[in-house]
Amino acid sequence: MTRVYDLSGVWGYILGLTIMMVGASVGLFAVGCAGFSGRRGGWSEERVEALEPEVRGAYRLFALRCSRCHTLARPLSSGITDPAHWRNYVDRMRRMPGSGISATEAKQVLVFLEYYAAQERSKRRRNDTSADKNIDEL
Ligand code: HEC
Repeated sequence: MTRVYDLSGVWGYILGLTIMMVGASVGLFAVGCAGFSGRRGGWSEERVEALEPEVRGAYRLFALRCSRCHTLARPLSSGITDPAHWRNYVDRMRRMPGSGISATEAKQVLVFLEYYAAQERSKRRRNDTSADKNIDEL
């Protein structure tokens, strides 16, 4: 009788431990995901703070509106450097069902994207000869 109790005690302990471990890893996983989705493939806070105020505000709206259906990495690493191209894209995204982007907000988002496009164009020119610089900025 005592042996059985001892045994169930051990199993109970093991079961408890297992549940605790599973619980802890699920918890950690959730924290990890929240951390990731918080950034949504966007820029670091330092990089955003370094922007000029108008562009910074535009970036924040971009980060809010353009991360709803995909991560920000999608527009940021699209390689689009032509402002006309951006206007088309933003318009297309805005017209998607449930985009939540108004025409006024689209214009505001474009302030950032046009700034970004210009920056990428000049970076591309500078980096044509120095690949190292590119790696530094990653
Ligand atoms: C309603 C959901 C939704 C929102 C909001 C949204 N997108 Fe998209 N986006 C998509 C979908 C779906 C695709 C893929 C299909 C396509 O290319 O049409 C996409 C694709 C893209 C692409 C193409 C990437 C590539 O590899 O060619 C870019 C760039 C982009 N989005 C930028 C933006 C920008 C900038 C915003 C904010 C103004 C935005 N998206 C907001 C749904 C959305």
